[in-house]
Amino acid sequence: MIEEAMLMAKEYTTGLKYFINTMGCKLNENDSEKIAGMLTKMGYSEAKSVEEANIVVFNTCCIRENAEEKLFGKLGELKNLKKQNNMIICLGGCMSQEKHVVDKVKQSYSQVDIVFGTHNIHKLPEMILKKLTENQKVFDVWDIDGDIIEGLPVKRTGEKNALVTIMYGCNNFCTYCIVPYVRGRERSRKPEDILKEVRNLASEGYKEIMLLGQNVNSYDGGAGYHFSNLLRDIDQIPGINIVRFMSPHPKDFTDDVISAIADCKSVCKVIHLPLQSGSSKVLNLMNRKYTKEQYLTLVQKIREKVPDVTFTTDIIVGFPGEEEADFLDTLDVVEKVKFEQVFMFIYSVRKGTAAEKMPNHVPEEIKSERFNRLKELADRITEEENKKYIGTVQKVLVEGESKTNAEVLTGRTRSNKIVNFSGSKSLIGKEIDVEIISEHVWYLKGKAV
Ligand code: SAH
Ligand code: SF4
Ligand code: F3S
Repeated sequence: MIEEAMLMAKEYTTGLKYFINTMGCKLNENDSEKIAGMLTKMGYSEAKSVEEANIVVFNTCCIRENAEEKLFGKLGELKNLKKQNNMIICLGGCMSQEKHVVDKVKQSYSQVDIVFGTHNIHKLPEMILKKLTENQKVFDVWDIDGDIIEGLPVKRTGEKNALVTIMYGCNNFCTYCIVPYVRGRERSRKPEDILKEVRNLASEGYKEIMLLGQNVNSYDGGAGYHFSNLLRDIDQIPGINIVRFMSPHPKDFTDDVISAIADCKSVCKVIHLPLQSGSSKVLNLMNRKYTKEQYLTLVQKIREKVPDVTFTTDIIVGFPGEEEADFLDTLDVVEKVKFEQVFMFIYSVRKGTAAEKMPNHVPEEIKSERFNRLKELADRITEEENKKYIGTVQKVLVEGESKTNAEVLTGRTRSNKIVNFSGSKSLIGKEIDVEIISEHVWYLKGKAV
């Protein structure tokens, strides 16, 4: 049926163009690649900008509050363009799973033609076909967890690096987080399907993959096959030299995963290990299921078994009940672990989560003051850690020209640091040696050797 709808649509789509607006995390990016794959198969080609598009898909994120206003603003802006281009407007992603969003669209945003959710992106071709043939609005969002659909076409955005979702949903219910409500329970893809995808990527010339899931180390391939088995099997696939994954949960970081990271040559020795808070009290309120001490012990254990490992992390400041002493614990962990990069978020209330109803919400000005203090410390440490690269020679997978300067090439080290350097375009897609000459907080400057 999916296949049929994609082929039938071709009759209507000659010369038409699509534009996808992707918000949120890498899982959404990977979903958008599948949406682009389906639209391409339906006969659409990619528009350079929204102005020239005949179909626009918003793949939304609702992890924080402010995204909603932005989306509605954008929908408002499209009203005139819609008439001009006879445009179909589709709304999908995590926000579509929220009832109040869909209600608001129904009430006040008549320009939206199609609403789909996170469990039925594979239904998009049928929904578009219905709109094209019957000129009807189609709103279809599923509450139940969707089956895993294999084999959707994927139009990848990376040249040599590819995203591979290994599992969907989340069972953790961290008390601040909306994801379990909009993405459903954990469902793992079959090992053979993942390995087949990675083998295909290797044969297409991809060199780097990023394994994705909300909690990759609770991957369950059945019959005792876990995340560590997957890492080991992927490591055996020739051609894929760089394997990253995002995100593991500290509570599930078992010894077999640590050994697999240590043993597998292709697996990068940089681990994104979300901390969220350094205070055991706040971690308990967040339902993270580890303490400050357990987190630090885990880091220590990984350091002992994986030489030269580095860490990056996510931190939320201003969670309800966070006091100055708790915040100082967070700073303490940042100081101790020396994260190469900290992704910082100001706590944002999400409707329907447990934290929404917790007492002692932190005033905005304290949240932003703490955010600034954390940023100062994290930037100082990033700079210190970056300085250690100066004078070293790093393997860099060259990704393309720099966005701001076509004379400059850009790529990433195995530890995921952005490196800019001058060189010939023929190097794009290759992994080459680059000597690091200076650091600039968000990137390193180097010269090819
Ligand atoms: N599954 C991953 C991350 C998912 S969301 C994990 O468990 O780490 C990405 C990040 O957004 C989270 O790590 C968290 O730091 C942040 N985040 C999630 N909900 C948030 C909220 N309500 N307010 C602020 N930041 C939030
Ligand atoms: Fe959200 Fe926690 Fe699940 Fe991550 S592990 S997606 S933070 S509930
Ligand atoms: Fe956002 Fe959904 Fe990802 S809420 S962070 S896009 S799973």
